[in-house]
Amino acid sequence: MLEQINLTAEYLKNHIQGEMPKTGIILGTGLGALVDHIEDKQLIPYTEIPNFPVSTVEGHSGNLIIGNLGGKRVLGMQGRFHFYEGYDMKQVTFPVRVMKALGIETLFVSNAAGGMNKEFKVGDVMIITDHINLFPENPLRGKNYNELGPRFPAMTEAYSKDLIALADSIANEKNIRIMHGVYVGVTGPTFETPAEYEYFRIIGGDAVGMSTVPEVIVANHAGMKVFGLSVITDLGGKEITDVPTHEEVQKAAIKAQPVVVEIMRELVKRS
Ligand code: HPA
Repeated sequence: MLEQINLTAEYLKNHIQGEMPKTGIILGTGLGALVDHIEDKQLIPYTEIPNFPVSTVEGHSGNLIIGNLGGKRVLGMQGRFHFYEGYDMKQVTFPVRVMKALGIETLFVSNAAGGMNKEFKVGDVMIITDHINLFPENPLRGKNYNELGPRFPAMTEAYSKDLIALADSIANEKNIRIMHGVYVGVTGPTFETPAEYEYFRIIGGDAVGMSTVPEVIVANHAGMKVFGLSVITDLGGKEITDVPTHEEVQKAAIKAQPVVVEIMRELVKRS
């Protein structure tokens, strides 16, 4: 695995023009519009990057985007790899490993999620304060490479408290309604049964989704600072009878896009 990471990082070092970014961004479902704000962009399709898996889901194009956002150099992932697509955990988290090898220190992530918290409304944006890993596998299972991080990494501050405080002050300044919550990461691709949404709420979850947790675990293992936002695209629970669909999720995510873009852009600038 080390060899693969280094080979891919070498390829990118040789192909990325200009200064290497220290900020990485994973653009989740329907949140790709952040790309429009990245200036002087260089685009590298995943298909051209050695060892990179290729994204398969509708609405996720696969490119690395390097450029300037809020005056900072950033490396964006347009399209991520989901466990439900059939990739294994090493593939899902491979780009984060490569980011680390390139010198990325801070990782910003976004995703779409179903809300269980009864205060939440569709279209709300939630700062992820913590997560519960309910994927059947941990991406760090198997041989540990001490070069990459410790065997038993702490997850006490998986989401940077400083970045959360900064995001709060940005939302406050801009009069943006911002929620806080615990993200439950599950395999999918099924949406949850009413009983499952209820169960996730009872165990301490506020929102549930099919991504993010593997990447955040690996980023923490590698000593990166992480910040995450979830767009609440649907609501779930015992009293909720709406049937979530992929289209509805995309639509809600696109609607919330300006807010997510605004917060992320300002955060990148000030962090
Ligand atoms: N459940 C799981 N993943 C999701 C959901 C949901 O309700 N909405 C968007 N991603």
